[in-house]
Amino acid sequence: MNGNQSIAVVGATGAVGREMLDILAAEGVEAGRVKAFASPRSAGQRLPYGPGDLAVEAFGGESLEGIDIALFSAGSAISKQFGRAAAARGTVIIDNSSAFRMDADVPLVVPEINAEALDGVASQRGAVIANPNCSTIITLMAATPIHRMLGVKRMVVSTYQAVSGAGAAAMEELRRQAQQVLDGEKPVCKVFDQPCAFNVFSHNTTIGEDGYNVEETKMVKETHKIWGDASVRVTATCIRVPVFRAHCASINLTLAQPVDNLDAVRETIGAFAGVRVVDDRAANRFPTPLEASGKDDVLVGRLRLDPSQIDSQGRCWGLNLFASGDQLRKGAALNAVQIADVLGERVGV
Ligand SMILES: NC(=O)c1ccc[n+]([C@@H]2O[C@H](COP(=O)([O-])OP(=O)(O)OC[C@H]3O[C@@H](n4cnc5c(N)ncnc54)[C@H](OP(=O)(O)O)[C@@H]3O)[C@@H](O)[C@H]2O)c1
Repeated sequence: MNGNQSIAVVGATGAVGREMLDILAAEGVEAGRVKAFASPRSAGQRLPYGPGDLAVEAFGGESLEGIDIALFSAGSAISKQFGRAAAARGTVIIDNSSAFRMDADVPLVVPEINAEALDGVASQRGAVIANPNCSTIITLMAATPIHRMLGVKRMVVSTYQAVSGAGAAAMEELRRQAQQVLDGEKPVCKVFDQPCAFNVFSHNTTIGEDGYNVEETKMVKETHKIWGDASVRVTATCIRVPVFRAHCASINLTLAQPVDNLDAVRETIGAFAGVRVVDDRAANRFPTPLEASGKDDVLVGRLRLDPSQIDSQGRCWGLNLFASGDQLRKGAALNAVQIADVLGERVGV
């Protein structure tokens, strides 16, 4: 990250916050420019930062005085309570929660896809910018190159989401429950209301009257906002799987143009910044959460023509693909730091 801006990480002890510190340190941001905030429970704790560490401070109303950029990752309630007030006092807020994503004045940004959305906050001090939902980011990193090449008219997504999407305590829950099951004990549920070890279940967000959970609804609305096109038909089924980190998505697309050449589509996907093609049919090697974990790139593969979308003239209007990305990095912390980087480059914040 360029410049000498002061940076705060709010929620620094969490699953996302720790990744943020890791990425800032890797970018060479000196410890003296970074403040780590969490709840009063964590005040005084020390978190690794590069070769050294940082002291955690209790977050409060005055914490962001004099801070240029605050990366919020402490849940929607904290973002709503403090985000806009801090922005009004001149801090740029990059928020990981869902608090502001659909607000008309808030850019919802994946830098590789719609960095231009940040132009609206040019030279502003004190803007609020939202990081999209993690499954949405990973899905759109895979689908956007195809959207640009052939136009996506409809997208059907099924996710396979890691437990760390529900925070550090959920990772601990998977570890503990796995041991309990292996020891022949009944798994104790604290974070999720059903066992996550050796189990697969519908995403743990509230279900609306239409039967879709909040995660599924976010994927539809956020895709429309990021692509700037509400006419694309999107439907999602979001599922938790017993994986520590990295979400997967199975994606079926209906296209505006038929696919002439699958290799050309594969090349286009591979040329997209932040994406790596893993598509080796001979070796049966495709994206996995284990390979995606800790990596910045979203892995994309299992690219296939959809035979159910071949018309009477033999033209194929549909594709199937599979993606896996580390949702703590590209789905959250990395995307937020990239937004801060782009702000520095494009609008000089
Ligand atoms: N996990 C993901 O993959 C992911 C992806 C995209 C977006 N997000 C969003 O990012 C946010 C954080 O998620 P997470 O997974 O990192 O959760 P987490 O592991 O549970 O961490 C929550 C963080 O918030 C802090 N916090 C709680 N109450 C606070 C308070 N009153 N004041 C200041 N800090 C407080 C916690 O501090 P203590 O340790 O002191 O309690 C901790 O640092 C959520 O809004 C989530 O929806 C998460």
